[in-house]
Amino acid sequence: MSEQRTIRSFVRRQGRITAGQKRSIQEHWSNYVLNLSDGWPALEQALNLSNPIILEIGFGMGVSLHNQAISDRQTNFIGIDVHLPGLGNLIRLLQESQLENVRLYYENAVEVIQRVIEDDSLHRVQLFFPDPWPKKRHLKRRLINEHFIDLLSKKLEKNGEFVLATDSQSYFNYTLHLFLLRSDFKRVDSQKREPTKYEKRGLALGHQIFDVTFKLS
Ligand SMILES: C[S@@+](CC[C@H](N)C(=O)[O-])C[C@H]1O[C@@H](n2cnc3c(N)ncnc32)[C@H](O)[C@@H]1O
Repeated sequence: MSEQRTIRSFVRRQGRITAGQKRSIQEHWSNYVLNLSDGWPALEQALNLSNPIILEIGFGMGVSLHNQAISDRQTNFIGIDVHLPGLGNLIRLLQESQLENVRLYYENAVEVIQRVIEDDSLHRVQLFFPDPWPKKRHLKRRLINEHFIDLLSKKLEKNGEFVLATDSQSYFNYTLHLFLLRSDFKRVDSQKREPTKYEKRGLALGHQIFDVTFKLS
């Protein structure tokens, strides 16, 4: 098994789950959450794939992804997270707004991208406030590394974009460094986006926010 598969960017923690989140999971899970083993055909069946696909890694409680999907109903959104209360929260929001353009995975995003997503198919991959893993001995847990960028290069469509927002200057510099080594991506201006929960937390702590976008040529 490759290093990319064995070292994870997350530690699965259940966290506190509310009664409402539990109920949404029990009643509506199968309407929104797809299985890794069902592959690309499950997405073809669930979404209108003639529209572009935006994939978000680590949507957290899902509020910003939900807002984005409401304001852009002609785009498909694939949200991936391993945090069960967040899935419960987002399923509740999707159910309340009856949105049809969003599907979710409760899986390691790297595995979903590797095993489910077809090559040249993603319009955008967004990663907002990834766990920064600031300690030196944890750097290898960061989601972004050269294998991950290879994977993006394979799965993004031509001119597709990877968007990162973080409040960690170290994560930002490290990402810039990795992408600047590549000839297949170029840096472009970042567009306005929905604020996220972790972003608000970072701002409240006085952190600076760094946004960066790379386009595949
Ligand atoms: C710091 S939180 C940020 C949440 C949200 N994007 C925000 O800005 O509020 C990072 C999230 O990424 C998820 N995560 C980390 N690594 C992941 C992976 N490999 N696959 C899926 N989700 C992951 C965590 O479970 C967590 O919900």
